[in-house]
Amino acid sequence: MNGKRFMGTSKRITGGLGLLLGVGLAAGQAVALEGDAERGQAAAGTCVACHQADGSGMNVPGGESWPRLAGMDADYIAKQLHDFQEGRRQSASMLPFANMLDDQQIVDVAAYYSEMPVTEAQGGDDVDDALLARGEKLALRGDWDAYIVSCMSCHGPRNEGAGSDFPGISSQHAGYIESQLRAWQADERRNDPQNLMGAVAKRMSDEDIRAVSAWLASQSVASE
Ligand code: HEC
Ligand code: HEC
Repeated sequence: MNGKRFMGTSKRITGGLGLLLGVGLAAGQAVALEGDAERGQAAAGTCVACHQADGSGMNVPGGESWPRLAGMDADYIAKQLHDFQEGRRQSASMLPFANMLDDQQIVDVAAYYSEMPVTEAQGGDDVDDALLARGEKLALRGDWDAYIVSCMSCHGPRNEGAGSDFPGISSQHAGYIESQLRAWQADERRNDPQNLMGAVAKRMSDEDIRAVSAWLASQSVASE
C-alpha cells in the first residue's frame, strides 16, 4: 500500500521534470545541448539559397528580404528557430526550413552563423537626409512625444545587440527590419518577452518605420 503510493508520487515528479525540460527547450535555452559550428555548416546546406554562404542575407526592395544571420547571437538564433517551429513567429518561407532541423541541429546552425563575421547591410542608401535624420533620432534618442523609447536603450550601444535577448539591428537589411516592425504591428510576430517590441512598433507611423529601418541599415558594424 505504502510502496504503491510512493511509486505514484515519483511518477508524478518525473512527469513534472519532463515538462519543465520541455519548456526550457521550447524557449530555446537548449539546456543540455551544445552547438558545434562544423556540424552546423553541414546542417545549413539548404539555408544558403536565401541567407547566402557568408550569412549576409539579402535586401529585396518590394519583396521579401532575407535577414543577415552572420554574427548574430547563437542563443538568439536558436530561439527564433524554435519560435518558427511553434508558430510564435510566422513565415511561409522559413517554416519548412525550421521544421527540417531537430534540437541538436538548431544549436549547431546557431553556433555556425554566430561565428561568422558581421556583414554590411543594404537598403540604407538612396534615402533622403530628412528621413535618415528621423531614423537616427528614433534609434538613438527616441521620440518622447510619441512615447517611443530609443532602440538603443534595449538593443545596446550602436544597436549592435546586448546579450541573447536583444538582437543586433544595425547592419541589418532595411527591408527585413521594416517587415518585422509591421509583423509586430499586425500581431503576427508574438515571440518577444513581455511584448516589448509589440509596444514599440505599435507607436510607430509608416514613415517612422521606413526612417529607422533605413538608418539602421546604413550603420555598418561589419566586422573588419
Ligand atoms: C526560402 C528562403 C529561406 C531559406 C532557404 C531559409 N530561410 Fe531563414 N529566413 C527567411 C526569411 C524570409 C526570414 C524572415 C522571416 C520573417 O519575416 O519572420 C528568415 C528568418 C530566419 C531567422 C530569423 C533571423 C532573425 O534575425 O530573427 C533565422 C534564425 C533563420 N531564418 C535561419 C535559417 C536556417 C538555419 C535555414 C536553413 C536550415 C534557413 N533560415 C533557410 C528565408 C529563408
Ligand atoms: C523595451 C526594449 C526594446 C526597445 C526599446 C526596442 N526593442 Fe527591438 N527588440 C526587443 C526584443 C526583446 C527583441 C527580441 C524579440 C525576440 O525575442 O524575438 C527585439 C527585436 C527586434 C527586431 C527583430 C530583429 C531580428 O533579427 O529578428 C527588430 C527589427 C527590432 N527589435 C527593432 C527595433 C527598433 C527599430 C527599435 C526602436 C524604434 C526597437 N527595436 C526598440 C526589445 C526592444
